[in-house]
Amino acid sequence: MDKLWTLQQTSFSPLKLQHNETVFMQGNGYMGTRGAFEERYPGEERTTFVHGVFDDVPIVFTELVNFPDWLNIEIILAGERFCMTDGQLLEFGRSLDLRNGLLNRKVLWRSPKGLTTSLEFKRFVSFTDVHLTCMQVTIIAQDYNGTLEIRSGLNANTDNLNYKHWEWLGQGFEDQTIWLKLKTKSTKIVAGMAERLQIVGETALESDFWDVTGCPTLRLKTTLTAGHPLQIEKVAAIFTSRDVNDPLEMAKNKLAALPKAAWDELWNPHVLCWEENWNKSDVIIEGDEKAQLALRFNLYNLLIAASRYDEHVNIGAKTLSGYGYRGHSFWDTEIFILPYFTFTQPDIARNLLSYRYHNLPGAREKAQANGFEGAQFPWESAGSGREVTPTWVPNPDDPTKLIRIWTGDIQIHISADIAFAIWQYWIVSGDDDFMVKRGAEIILDTARFWVSRAEWNQEKERYEFNKVIGPDENHDHVNNNAYTNYLVHWHLQLAVQLVKWLKKHDPLAATRLFALLELNENDIDQFKKIAEKIYRPFDADTKLVEQFDGYFALQYIDLKALEGRKESIQGMLGIEKTNQTQILKQPDVIMLMNLFPDEFDLDVIRKNYQFYTERTDLTYGSSLGPSIQSIVASRLQMVDQAYAYFLQAAFTDIDNLRGNAEDGIHAASAGGLWQTVVFGFAGLRYENDGWSLNPQLPPTWKRLAFKFRWRGEEIKVDLRPERYAET
Ligand code: BGC
Repeated sequence: MDKLWTLQQTSFSPLKLQHNETVFMQGNGYMGTRGAFEERYPGEERTTFVHGVFDDVPIVFTELVNFPDWLNIEIILAGERFCMTDGQLLEFGRSLDLRNGLLNRKVLWRSPKGLTTSLEFKRFVSFTDVHLTCMQVTIIAQDYNGTLEIRSGLNANTDNLNYKHWEWLGQGFEDQTIWLKLKTKSTKIVAGMAERLQIVGETALESDFWDVTGCPTLRLKTTLTAGHPLQIEKVAAIFTSRDVNDPLEMAKNKLAALPKAAWDELWNPHVLCWEENWNKSDVIIEGDEKAQLALRFNLYNLLIAASRYDEHVNIGAKTLSGYGYRGHSFWDTEIFILPYFTFTQPDIARNLLSYRYHNLPGAREKAQANGFEGAQFPWESAGSGREVTPTWVPNPDDPTKLIRIWTGDIQIHISADIAFAIWQYWIVSGDDDFMVKRGAEIILDTARFWVSRAEWNQEKERYEFNKVIGPDENHDHVNNNAYTNYLVHWHLQLAVQLVKWLKKHDPLAATRLFALLELNENDIDQFKKIAEKIYRPFDADTKLVEQFDGYFALQYIDLKALEGRKESIQGMLGIEKTNQTQILKQPDVIMLMNLFPDEFDLDVIRKNYQFYTERTDLTYGSSLGPSIQSIVASRLQMVDQAYAYFLQAAFTDIDNLRGNAEDGIHAASAGGLWQTVVFGFAGLRYENDGWSLNPQLPPTWKRLAFKFRWRGEEIKVDLRPERYAET
């Protein structure tokens, strides 16, 4: 077992059941399955989500639908059902091989009647043939001879936290294969699933199909002889009407085309595909094994979250790994996750940006509904690209009361974040074709939104954005949020430059785009004029950027005095009170300086970093905070601090640092982690003219190596600090 690639669990605790389901997550960019136990366990949160399969639900509008369970397998040993709640768990070990996504669990179990059995479960979700999953269970009776009965069904009665999305359409059994057909209630997405089960190399003594409505089940029976291993193999296929015309037929055909024992046939190409992915996207750290493993864990979760084929899906804030945020996507994708793909697998980045392009109609609808022009992207986005942020949610402390959620109304910076990600992708990949065909339309139509959203302050002779929420959601309805205003300023300038470039590079495309968006030269002048006059807070004396109007006058709270707390400041003080303090959920100004390092000199960055770090709830505020802190600390040559924040981001989910890992992987933190290493410790900078490195590694790191792609060329970075050079 390679400890730099393998995540291990050596003992079982029911208290960490759901946390570990998140940690032992598997997926392939099409589907994602939590690390639940095959035979079930009380209190589990057992989910399989498939990208793009959303359905309507009260309050949160739409959510990813939990699929019928492909994991389920019931094992009856000499008449006793195997379950880790009963009998005695003599040995337990679980591992996830990050190199290829293989999940392995070994159990030595003594039944209530005292019979001992060893069981080994192995499973993977195919990376090459993304509709297929495969599982093997090896069973050895240690001290008895007896019967073995295996039952495995496809259960249509799954729900999302008690909410049912599936309508049953049919089920059956043909050619040793069970099948199930279903449809989501509101979105009418049809799913076809098929499953095959067998004892490898043996014919079962009994083999039945139980036609239980809603749960077609296969049952096999054989005998176990003490000391002789017996292997069960199960393969399952999932298709939906989002992928093909007849999902059920495809699922059945997929299985029919496989050899009787399918593991090797599926495993070998799967491993090669993983190898290819790691070859492009791995980061090697030498001298710090814990950091290496944790970094790979986070990268693994990004690699299994991103679709390779589908331009109509995004990455949710919790990937496909849990109910958190119900599969909705945020700015997390563009600002935190996308750089990893832009720099290492630009095709994936292009797909993700294309999701925004295809969802321009939803963004235009939103702008119009709010009385604005152009395109305003939703704060939370799912299948249709319409705004899906809940408006009201029940108060967790008093469910009879509701809390108003304002982010969907006024957290507007996301449209500029998307423009930023497109620009970054364009600069790094050199993909003019994307810019001409898709990127420019997004950048210009969102620029038009800014023009209509900006407010002219006659007295101060400047444009402002009032009543907004910045990234820091501890303060709502603020005026002139620095992050928003600076970003819009940059966005409008970009729009002006882009028009110039497009006219020169592809005049016909420019004419077409102007006609499509009904733009004229006056509009472009307007972009320029507003950009020049947008208010961008900066105090030349103190060198501080005020996060929003009146922030400095709010109540100061000494966070150090509250060390040891177990919840966020907002949780402790409530929403209204926190609004009146300087405590930040995440540091907008530091985030701004991270995106535009050249706009601010180091002294300004240092002063703002010190000022805002002290006021940010980095422990229980937003998980998006620590990675950005780390990058900016690296830039300020504060490598110890940078490393401490790196660790905080790296272990967010593995160690459940925020206490909510059961809801799913913190994907933005995972993406930010890659940036802490590449933009932070390696100091990779890029601009139109090229890229440069300015490394400063944590003291124990003997080597940092990674690859990235710059305009089609592969660049290999291999940093070995001189202090470790052999003498
Ligand atoms: C953060 C947002 C983030 C969202 C999803 C919120 O708690 O404040 O910045 O986009 O979570 O991760």
